[in-house]
Amino acid sequence: MSNGLLAKMHPEWMTEYWFIACKSSQLKRKPLPREIQGNKMVLFRKKDGTPGAIREQCIHRNLSLARARVCDSGLQCSYHGWTYDVDGRVSRIPAQTDADRKEMRTKSWPVVESQGFVWVYMGQKDPGSKGVPMFPLHDDAKANTWVMERIFEGNALHCIENFLDIPHTIYVHSKWFRNESRKEIEFKVTAGRDHVCAEFFNEAQFDTLLGKILIPANTVMKHTDQYFKPYTTRVDYYFTEKRQFIIQSHCVPINEHRTRVFTWMAFRFDPIAPLVRLIFEPMANRILDQDVKVIREQTEDIKNANHASFVFHRTDVIGKEIFDLANGKKLKASIRNGTLAI
Ligand code: FES
Ligand SMILES: [Fe+2]
Repeated sequence: MSNGLLAKMHPEWMTEYWFIACKSSQLKRKPLPREIQGNKMVLFRKKDGTPGAIREQCIHRNLSLARARVCDSGLQCSYHGWTYDVDGRVSRIPAQTDADRKEMRTKSWPVVESQGFVWVYMGQKDPGSKGVPMFPLHDDAKANTWVMERIFEGNALHCIENFLDIPHTIYVHSKWFRNESRKEIEFKVTAGRDHVCAEFFNEAQFDTLLGKILIPANTVMKHTDQYFKPYTTRVDYYFTEKRQFIIQSHCVPINEHRTRVFTWMAFRFDPIAPLVRLIFEPMANRILDQDVKVIREQTEDIKNANHASFVFHRTDVIGKEIFDLANGKKLKASIRNGTLAI
């Protein structure tokens, strides 16, 4: 591929942030290999439950530590038994004498556990007080939540754009989500330094089964689409405090062409949320799989053509701001209005 194409498809990694490596429930007794932004690592828990993330290959003779086992002093390589602590320090070399002892370590990444996920900090600097993103309605006892995880065969930027793109819903999710009504809706875009938000007004009730189930007739819907740098999207549909839906996706680049996405689904539908979920959850999974398919096709088609053009149109709403932010540009604080016929 040409450099121009690569530059558009693969913006510089944004590293000084926390990334989800896995759900807490996925990290048990065995080490878990993961790749984030091309860095191959292995996650593990010490016997006391403390999580760690260190480079996947053993520094001694390169065995993958995904084959290792957790023992009292850390993660023990399956070849010669070198053992690593969660901070990357070699805590034990079985055959060494005291006279041979010297400090050795492998690459490690800071790890925290929060809101049911294990997060890894990918930056060069100390994360300091920089916190992980928070999941909406996480602490709301009345909210119903679940997580969907998918691997997208595509660049993270294309996933982000897809999750906040309205016009594709009529074609990719035909009859599932939103049908074309050609009704004109107004929107307001508010841009900040590392965040852009589109707020939509006068949106009609979606003319689909999902729309009829989830959206009460004759109510005013507040719909916002937001992108937070580096890789978080959030879509809100709000009617009242007791009836609202939020979809927050964290796109974790595996490499330039693959992205692991954790989608946090949170909704309130008092008092029958568990019943609604019986229908909502399988439908949401189906819709997500349709996006997995179209992103795979987009990547294949760009690779096959060895060409990509990105024409921005007002129907992309915040597509341009997303590309600019993801390509390292700083947005000026601004507000603009527009209309969309969907
Ligand atoms: S290869 Fe890991 S201890 Fe030798
Ligand atoms: Fe979609």
